[in-house]
Amino acid sequence: MRTQVAIIGAGPAGLLLGQLLHNAGISNVIIERRSGDYVLSRIRAGVLEEGTVQLLREAGVSQRMDAEGMVHHGVQIAFREQIRHIDLSRHADGKTVMVYGQTEVTRDLMAARAAAGALSLYNIPDVSIHNIESSNPSLQFTLNGERQVLECDYIAGCDGFHGISRHAIPAEIRCEYEKVYPFGWLGVLSETPPVSPELIYGAHSRGFFLCSMRSMARSRYYLEVPISEQVEDWSDDRFWTELRSRMPESVASTLVTGASIEKSIAPLRSFVVEPMQYGRLFLLGDAAHIVPPTGAKGLNLAASDVNYLYRILVKVYHEGRTELLARYSALALDRIWKAERFSWWMTSMLHRLSANPFDHRVQLAELDYFTSSEEGLQTLARNYVGLPYQDVG
Ligand code: APR
Ligand code: PHB
Repeated sequence: MRTQVAIIGAGPAGLLLGQLLHNAGISNVIIERRSGDYVLSRIRAGVLEEGTVQLLREAGVSQRMDAEGMVHHGVQIAFREQIRHIDLSRHADGKTVMVYGQTEVTRDLMAARAAAGALSLYNIPDVSIHNIESSNPSLQFTLNGERQVLECDYIAGCDGFHGISRHAIPAEIRCEYEKVYPFGWLGVLSETPPVSPELIYGAHSRGFFLCSMRSMARSRYYLEVPISEQVEDWSDDRFWTELRSRMPESVASTLVTGASIEKSIAPLRSFVVEPMQYGRLFLLGDAAHIVPPTGAKGLNLAASDVNYLYRILVKVYHEGRTELLARYSALALDRIWKAERFSWWMTSMLHRLSANPFDHRVQLAELDYFTSSEEGLQTLARNYVGLPYQDVG
């Protein structure tokens, strides 16, 4: 088998890159460890930056998102019984975000790929990476009991945090930066109307909470919990009671509760690997970096990497600009580190990181400053809607 770009992983990064390349006439094959149904069963975040939305439109997969996604002009931040409205459009040059679940983005990308007739191989548990230092790299794996070699020009490692791609960069070159937080997010999805038309990020002495949504009939709520908590110990009743106790009274009194349709605890982590390229291998998305979900940047950073690698590969194949390949890592990391900073900062400002009352008072002062001063609001809004992409050259 031979293709131009071999893609490992059919998450949003791999699927979006594959679709854009296919549309540009650059052949690619996606190799995924799990089944398509399994990939679609993962509940992930749901806030898309304008840059992500535009890239999905450019990929020709935006029809359902444009019809069903919800454009949000603002978010709310709750602390000390107060609610502060952050007018994103006003403080970030008219920009907005789109609330549309990652699961739906993935579903749309899978459907577009199937319609395009591009090859995706699912349920491949043993892919391995070869010859990335040469000009003829390849992937090897077993398909229907037979050993296969997929030769290619480039390999895109889109295989998430637990994938293999990152480890193909020699240890003496690879540098990993990591921060693990002592709490997780307990998330509940329910068939109930959202408590507010905008997302509410809340700081409370009992811990952080987030009110989000998937539609006007389906809500997603989160609670900060110690990482040692077991999801089995959280009945729906306990979850709703705890959520209400952290909300300002005006919000708690309008909360509609119902049976959970999904409930899980996710750990919070910040992680970056450098460089994101080695030889003919390029890393994208969660394979190269993780952010805590507080800034809603995970999926958007995957799209940001796709944006850069896609534009570079188009110039490589259509204009012979192979010198651009060496720019990928630095271009991608520049934006990633700024989003890492934002996600870490939002996490620190909103969670119960410390039992020291001094730290708590500093958090409140910070929340007040960034939700009331012109310069604070601008910093918050511009980072939340997403910093601009650079030109690849
Ligand atoms: N071989 C093939 N596929 C693999 C392998 C492997 N060895 N290891 C992992 N995969 C697959 C996973 O099964 C998964 O479907 O790679 C895919 C990676 O997808 P994601 O984890 O969704 O990562 P990514 O595409 O980078 O998406 C960005 O944004 O909101 C965040 O974390 C969230 O998933 C989200 C991410
Ligand atoms: C979600 O809807 O799941 C969500 C929204 C915003 C975040 C994180 C998660 O910051």
